[in-house]
Amino acid sequence: MKMRKLSRRQAIAATSAGFAGAMLGFPSRLFGIKNNLQLKKLAINGGEKVHPGSWPRWPYWDQSAEPGIVEMFRSGRWWRGNGEYVAEFEKKYAELMGAKRCLATASGSTALMISLDALGVEAGDEVLISPYTFIATYNVVFYRKILPVFVDSDPETFLIDPAKIEERIKERTTAIIPVHIYGLPVDMDSVNNIARKHNLKVIEDACQAWLAEYRGKRAGTLGDLGCFSFQNSKHLPAGEGGAILGNNDDTMDRCHALHNCGRAYGNMERGSGYPYRGINFRMQQIQALILMSQMKRIEQDNDVRLANALYLDNRLREIPGIVPYRLAQGATRAVYHLYPFRYIKEQFNDIPKTKFIAALNAEGIPCGGGYGKQNKDGLIEEQLSSKGFKRLFSESRLKQWREENVLPGNDQLCDQAVTFSQSMLLGSKSDMDDIVNAIAKIYENRNSLI
Ligand SMILES: Cc1ncc(COP(=O)(O)O)c(C=O)c1O
Repeated sequence: MKMRKLSRRQAIAATSAGFAGAMLGFPSRLFGIKNNLQLKKLAINGGEKVHPGSWPRWPYWDQSAEPGIVEMFRSGRWWRGNGEYVAEFEKKYAELMGAKRCLATASGSTALMISLDALGVEAGDEVLISPYTFIATYNVVFYRKILPVFVDSDPETFLIDPAKIEERIKERTTAIIPVHIYGLPVDMDSVNNIARKHNLKVIEDACQAWLAEYRGKRAGTLGDLGCFSFQNSKHLPAGEGGAILGNNDDTMDRCHALHNCGRAYGNMERGSGYPYRGINFRMQQIQALILMSQMKRIEQDNDVRLANALYLDNRLREIPGIVPYRLAQGATRAVYHLYPFRYIKEQFNDIPKTKFIAALNAEGIPCGGGYGKQNKDGLIEEQLSSKGFKRLFSESRLKQWREENVLPGNDQLCDQAVTFSQSMLLGSKSDMDDIVNAIAKIYENRNSLI
């Protein structure tokens, strides 16, 4: 499939007309125009909302998919073993992403789990991982009794800091899981170079990064294996679902066997028919049909998200104390599962982030505070002191893990991050102006928030 791409310059040009219009309608001294925003009462204090209307809902349903789904139900061919749709989706997704092979799975979590297994990452091993991610990334690692070793984040990129990876490598380290969080591509050259030097496997967690690009190639096709999620909130939603992308036939055959109760696949020796200790992590036919329907819109949606995100980047950075994400070295296209920026409270009279978020929500701009300091979540200690972990890892290694679990970059990021959902980025230019105006209004009225 032909790749549709909006360069940074094109996207800025596409949004510049809207920007000029917004400048006229945005009477703030921040933009050198006579100001009245600071005279307006904040909605949290009983004033009028900047954005009283609604935001685009998610997901969208295309009714033209319905006859095919009804036909599939009537045929009774509901599972991949006797139907063709899952295999058809795999072929289409591999083509779209520029990968040799795709395996569809029940979810992103199961895709990660199979990938670890297929690459020989086992109980008692250690995996390097970013703590700034959805909890599923490292839940999977714990679940397989592998020790996740958190690498500090770069607060500017919201991503794993490549300069901090090598210092965390130990004797039992076998893999790195870089997470393209929010659809922001990780500096994969740095990650892959370190992996090659230390003989580590690379499993990309691209569960939020459908069609993101690094040096013009899709995120999720740059490591040994790349994992995706198609859960309902995702850009390619099917309620649940996942996929693994890879270019090595033997590895992908192993993934297939592992997700299908261990059944032989591809060129494997048949023997008993079950050469692997696999499990059932298969995708259903209905999921594949939904995904093929949703695939028709993803490129166009991503173009809209990108144009709006670039517009926000330019306008938000004019407000003191608002710092949009920075793309990592080599990243050529982000896809914004969430749009992230950092809130520097010192520029807002030390108003806590929670209060800023409450004020922005009150203005009709839904937003969240990003991920918490997950390397310190209580369940981690429960795992480390569990019977299984104590058997697999020495007391001195677990003590050292606790002592080294200090991540100042990630702490800063968690303290400062604020996010908008991907569906808000499908809104109009005037919606984006409302986001900017609401934040500028809070800035202008920061004294009234204390
Ligand atoms: C970064 C990341 N990793 C892994 C997962 C797990 O995917 P799933 O929910 O499909 O199991 C998600 C899902 O939200 C995710 O966002």
